[in-house]
Amino acid sequence: MRKPFVAGNWKMNLNLAECRELMAALRKGLPDPLPIDVAVCPPFALLFPIQGEVDGTPIKVGAQNLYPEPKGAFTGEISATQIRDTGATYVIIGHSERRHVIGETGELIGRKIPAALKAGLEVIYCVGEKIEEREAGRTEAVVAEQLNHGLTEDLDWSRLTIAYEPVWAIGTGKTATPEQAQEAHAFIRQELAARYNAEWADRIRIQYGGSVKPDNADALMSCPDVDGALVGGASLKAGDFLGIIQAAIRSAS
Ligand code: 13P
Repeated sequence: MRKPFVAGNWKMNLNLAECRELMAALRKGLPDPLPIDVAVCPPFALLFPIQGEVDGTPIKVGAQNLYPEPKGAFTGEISATQIRDTGATYVIIGHSERRHVIGETGELIGRKIPAALKAGLEVIYCVGEKIEEREAGRTEAVVAEQLNHGLTEDLDWSRLTIAYEPVWAIGTGKTATPEQAQEAHAFIRQELAARYNAEWADRIRIQYGGSVKPDNADALMSCPDVDGALVGGASLKAGDFLGIIQAAIRSAS
């Protein structure tokens, strides 16, 4: 049985005062004990202060990106060890906004995963197709290629989570149906088993991301291969994020 994992990707939202307010509400509403894993991923500048906000709680902190080199002349970038130094334990890699808005290549993204793992971080690796790719029947080919760029057999798979985030469902309010999500998640698991290691494919957690809300979270997370959620907009509101966490807890029982 895989332990559900819900992570909030705050993207480039919230100032310090708003974050503190959100964290206070999360601390207050979080079930105790917490039978699932929960993380929040603020922008880089807020990693340190948010670490202070989660002390003494089971909430973990993650960054939204990193640069794969250990140090050097890479203005505006941040290394895996610098992220680790803030106390953060997770990093999101390959988010579709990095791929399609910022223009990162699969090759660059692929170099980030070993760098993150080497520094002791846990990785949430995002994959997902654009609407035109889905409509052209290329969903599986696109996802398989992204897995191929990011993953190799020698990685420490126990510190990897995959997030399936169909690009057309991100920030659009248009969620994948539970059937579409299950189909993609099962495909990812089969691919990992066929290409790498069946045991790790069975153990790895695959989150769904894309317009997850409290009212669709139960249906999505009750799918057998959906092991939690990577939440954007709804993670900015304590009530919604807590509602999704409750749905993940229900899916585990
Ligand atoms: P939304 O939940 O706002 O659709 O964003 C999903 C996402 O991109 C999480 O990484």
